[in-house]
Amino acid sequence: MADVVILPQSELVTLAAEYIGSLVHEKPELVLGVATGSTPLQLYQQLARSGADFSRASAFALDEYVGLPESHPESYTRVIDTQVTRQLGFQPERVHVPSGNHATLATAGPEFEAKIRAAGGIDVQILGIGTNGHVGFNEPGSSFASRTRVQVLAEQTRIDNSRFFDSLESVPRHCVTQGIGTILEARHLLLLAFGKQKAAAVRAALEGPVSSLVPASAIQLHPRVSVLLDEDAASELAMAEYYRYAWQNKFGGQVLG
Ligand code: F6R
Repeated sequence: MADVVILPQSELVTLAAEYIGSLVHEKPELVLGVATGSTPLQLYQQLARSGADFSRASAFALDEYVGLPESHPESYTRVIDTQVTRQLGFQPERVHVPSGNHATLATAGPEFEAKIRAAGGIDVQILGIGTNGHVGFNEPGSSFASRTRVQVLAEQTRIDNSRFFDSLESVPRHCVTQGIGTILEARHLLLLAFGKQKAAAVRAALEGPVSSLVPASAIQLHPRVSVLLDEDAASELAMAEYYRYAWQNKFGGQVLG
């Protein structure tokens, strides 16, 4: 069972930043899987403030939109460059985002997977969750064996992400995303969710049947998962009280991993 931690958002961010900071201290060549979207932004800010040294670490993004120029402010290449590479002090050549360039789409997935393998696999993968239960951009119906590939974005995802764009029309319709099979190979999954709008997806992912209709439910198949939820995101969980009890009884509720 996943470790489920239910705390105010600021405490979760501190817990996750301390955990990742300690990992990169122990292993300077840490391979970190990074998510985009709004959920991990405070975590990246806190990590930057902590002074953790990522100069020898590598990072792999989960996904990228197809067809946005890399200079577009919402391209994940650009977001990762600002929020992760520069803010945390990674060497740019060790930060990888799948290519969403039309010209190279056929090879983008296998090339990205080869880079993950060459780095020795992902040590810890930061994940958000979509309101429709997606992880990465693996939309409902995605195979649990899927690898990095082109996906059609669900309409719900385009609507949710239109807040970052001028209009719904300008949200791309396609992406390249790590597959669920790819994500499940990371050695530790760290899923964060904040807010009421995530509560139903969190419940389906943690307590519903394992089903490709809820891609995030695949985390139930992984042996090492930490799920960090604020009260709102945890508000529909049937087992919330047990999760709190279990977390308090695991190392006094102080340590992730
Ligand atoms: C982003 C990603 C997505 C987001 C999810 C939640 O790289 O893979 O799965 O994590 O859409 O997005 P936010 O955090 O904006 O609610």
